[in-house]
Amino acid sequence: ATEQDGLRGWEENPGKSIRIRQQSKILEEDFVVIVDMNEDRIKRWNSDELPIYEPGLMEVVKALLADGKQACRGKNLFFSTDVKKGIGVGKGRAADLRFIESVGRTIAQYANRSKIVIEKSTVPIKTAEAIARVLSANEAAAGGSKNFWILSNPEFLAEGTAMKDLDAPDRVLIGGQDQDAIQVLADVYANWVPRDRILTTNLWSSELSKLVANAMLAQRVSSINSISRLCERTGADVKEVARAIGTDSRIGPKFLNASVGFGGSCFQKDILNLVYICQQFGLEECAAYWQQVVDMNDYQKIAFTSKIIQSLFNTVTKKKIAVLGFAFKKDTGDVRETPALMVCDMLMKDGAIVHVYDPKVVIEDALTEFKYHDLEVNKNQLIFSKSPQEACDGAHAIVVVTEWDEFKTYDYKSLYDKMMKPAFLFDGRNMLDHAALVDIGFEVHALGKGQIKSSGGQSQIPDFVTRAGSGLLSGGYSP
Ligand code: UDX
Repeated sequence: ATEQDGLRGWEENPGKSIRIRQQSKILEEDFVVIVDMNEDRIKRWNSDELPIYEPGLMEVVKALLADGKQACRGKNLFFSTDVKKGIGVGKGRAADLRFIESVGRTIAQYANRSKIVIEKSTVPIKTAEAIARVLSANEAAAGGSKNFWILSNPEFLAEGTAMKDLDAPDRVLIGGQDQDAIQVLADVYANWVPRDRILTTNLWSSELSKLVANAMLAQRVSSINSISRLCERTGADVKEVARAIGTDSRIGPKFLNASVGFGGSCFQKDILNLVYICQQFGLEECAAYWQQVVDMNDYQKIAFTSKIIQSLFNTVTKKKIAVLGFAFKKDTGDVRETPALMVCDMLMKDGAIVHVYDPKVVIEDALTEFKYHDLEVNKNQLIFSKSPQEACDGAHAIVVVTEWDEFKTYDYKSLYDKMMKPAFLFDGRNMLDHAALVDIGFEVHALGKGQIKSSGGQSQIPDFVTRAGSGLLSGGYSP
């Protein structure tokens, strides 16, 4: 549907918006308008190339009925850049507008009656207070009498499983000062979420809970990653340790996969935000505690890449390295804060020619992320391949950075046959069958494991490799 087509139904029925009512049932005539000032993004939301990849998302946006009609986009779901109309008809979700304050001003400018304003993005604590002040100051200056109720309703969905998480959330959190406003939003969720999973809190608890949830999750990953390093030195196996501790119901099994490091747009940003808040209140020890979760993550990425360089006889200069996966996790094309960035950067700084294969990431997005981090890329050193075969052909090593399921299905024997020898494989997600790879002939390095033995019990890794410490490397990084 074109944007014009998409908006037709909305213009014809401007009064039939979701009303503030005691029992908010989602009615057939209700609809949602999503507004964003970014024209390009809205254009893509209205096309067959949605701006993000998420399993199940297209089906929901385009829900095609048996008769070929659309149930959602163009019928009761609209994407528009018309902020004025979006707010005017009774609702509007200014999607991720960067400057919260300007969103506040925009809402104040266009609201035609009292509104409930809901914070959905992760925002620094006390943002609601700032929005409330902007709204009431603007309203007073215009001599109006409209009310604005601010609610915090943080989003806990994870990328790659977003549609599932939205459909069946562990909990929905609504923070606010006004019980009636909270109730309106709680009633909307009650259409599909059991009441006992809808938690209500004060505004600040809600805002802080989002940061703390992410900080605690990231802390688990950093904790297990720190143990993976110890396992490599002691002969313990981090997978076995994770399983052993995860069966303690007080600890639980999730988020204990050792990795090359966590990425994504939330974890690091939220923890640094928490660190900043602690500092603001003079809580230096608390700030240092959470900072260490991020420091550990950087260390993990550096240590992983250092091991690659050391294993490849202390230099990767002019060597082709195949990197499998660039996204920060599987089932997404998102590269924000991906660990692949530092891995590739270190390899390139040491002179490697990096050939990346990722099922969803395009090189333009990768280059944008390098630029965002002020990292220069020599275009001859970073190549995005169309297939894993192309990436691995003539390579000295395979480096698994993202846990895409398809990486488990490759014919590693045929990849091995076309690689330089010795052929190395570094599994940054501990996801492949290591003994089988050793049987093929690979020298395999996994996370948090000592020497990898073949299925017949033979070690294929020369002693000097496993004994090599993690000394300083060139390129400005120190593990
Ligand atoms: C996270 C939170 O999970 C979600 O609730 C919040 O709303 C947004 O931030 P997301 O960033 O999409 O979601 O990804 P998540 O699944 O949490 O993974 C974050 C990173 O940690 C990824 O890079 C992932 O690969 C890594 N990770 C996760 C591990 O390295 N090991 C694990 O065991 C789990």
